[in-house]
Amino acid sequence: MFRNGARRDHDSGPAPEALRLVKVTKSYGTADSAVTALDGVTLGLARGTFTAVMGPSGSGKSTLLQCAAGLDRPDSGIVRVDGTELTGGGETELTKFRRGRIGFVFQQYNLLETLTVAQNTVLPLKLSGRRVDRRRAREILTAVGLGDRLGHRPDQLSGGQRQRVAIARALVTEPRVIFADEPTGALDTRSAREVLRLLQEAVRVHGRTVVMVTHDPVAASYADSVLFLADGRLAGQLDAPTADAVAERLAHLGDDTMAGV
Ligand SMILES: Nc1ncnc2c1ncn2[C@@H]1O[C@H](COP(=O)(O)OP(=O)(O)O)[C@@H](O)[C@H]1O
Ligand SMILES: [Mg+2]
Repeated sequence: MFRNGARRDHDSGPAPEALRLVKVTKSYGTADSAVTALDGVTLGLARGTFTAVMGPSGSGKSTLLQCAAGLDRPDSGIVRVDGTELTGGGETELTKFRRGRIGFVFQQYNLLETLTVAQNTVLPLKLSGRRVDRRRAREILTAVGLGDRLGHRPDQLSGGQRQRVAIARALVTEPRVIFADEPTGALDTRSAREVLRLLQEAVRVHGRTVVMVTHDPVAASYADSVLFLADGRLAGQLDAPTADAVAERLAHLGDDTMAGV
C-alpha cells in the first residue's frame, strides 16, 4: 500500500511518531484567578492514524489542539510533531514549521470572504513561500467535490461546502498532521458525513495523521481511537470506537473506573 505518511526521513531508526506530548501543562489567567486548562498531558500518536478527542465543555480539548498544533505555547512540557520539537524554538521557526507541516480545520471554517475558493485553498502555499500550483488547487478541490466552484466566494457556498474548502486548504501543503476542532459542529448530518469521510480518506488513502475534537459520538466513530479528556487530563481511551460505545463511555466520564489510559 502506498502511504506518504509512512515514508522515512532517515535511513535508520523507526519513523518518528506523528505527535508526541510529554507532560504538557497550560494555564490561563494570573495567579489568583488561574484556570488550569491542561494538567500534565502525555500522549503519542502513530503516523497514519485518525484520533478523536472528546470530553466535557471546558475540559481542555481546544487548548490541547492549539498547543499540539503550535498555535499556542504550553507553560511547560514538550510537543513534538513528526519528530520535530515545537516547544523551545523561536516564533519564526515555529510559524514556518506550522505552515509547512501542520493543517488546521476550525469549526467556523475561517475562510477569507474576499478570496475565491481557489485562492483560499492555496493561501497556505503562498504564506510559506511555496510555488502556487493552480493545477494542484483544482485537483484537490475536485477531490473534495468542489472542482466546479473554484471562482466562487465563500458566501456563495453552504456550510458543508465551506468546510470542504477548509479541508482542501488544510491538505494543500501535504501536512504531516491535520488538527480539526469540531469540524462538523456547525454542519447538518449529511455535510458532516462528507467532511468525516474526507478526513478519513486523508488518513487511509494518503497516510496523513488526523486529530479531531468532537462532541458527537457518531463523528468519533469515524476515528481509529478516541481519547477522553476531563479537567485537563487524559481520562481514558477507546480503540475501534462505535458510536454507542463512545456515548456510553462519555456518560461515565469521571467515574473512578475510567481513570488512566
Ligand atoms: N483564552 C483563554 N483565556 C482564559 N481561559 C481560557 C482561555 N481559553 C480557554 N480557557 C479556559 O481553559 C479551560 C479549557 O478550555 P478549552 O480548551 O477551550 O476547553 P474545551 O475545548 O474542552 O471546551 C476552560 O476552563 C476555559 O474556560
Ligand atoms: Mg473547544
